[in-house]
Amino acid sequence: MADVTDIEHEHHKLIEMLDALNDALRRHEPRQAVYRVIDDIIAYTELHFANEEQIMAKSGFPEFELHKQHHQRMVSEARHLREKYDEVGEDLFQEWYNHWFYRNFLAHIQYADKPIEDHILQNGVKQ
Ligand SMILES: [Fe+2]
Ligand SMILES: [Fe+2]
Repeated sequence: MADVTDIEHEHHKLIEMLDALNDALRRHEPRQAVYRVIDDIIAYTELHFANEEQIMAKSGFPEFELHKQHHQRMVSEARHLREKYDEVGEDLFQEWYNHWFYRNFLAHIQYADKPIEDHILQNGVKQ
């Protein structure tokens, strides 16, 4: 069962992966390499959100449903990264990725996830 430390560890890993996509784009890496980084982001985002939702449910986090909806929107956007990259081209994609996707993800981790951690620290998690 995940706890706050695991969630923080997952956040760090997620940010590393998001940075890796930025690096790949900046280095103009081949399409297949960019695809691989995108696939890693999708898989890890799904895993992390599932873990976080489990811990939210077990700790009785009051904003569970709303938070889950945020996750669903973000996963859906992550699943469309490849499509977007193919559609708008490398330069525009990089711009959009930095200004929207990356920032949105970071804001979610910094602001939306914070109350979950506080709630768990105060109330614990039912095993
Ligand atoms: Fe999170
Ligand atoms: Fe979250």
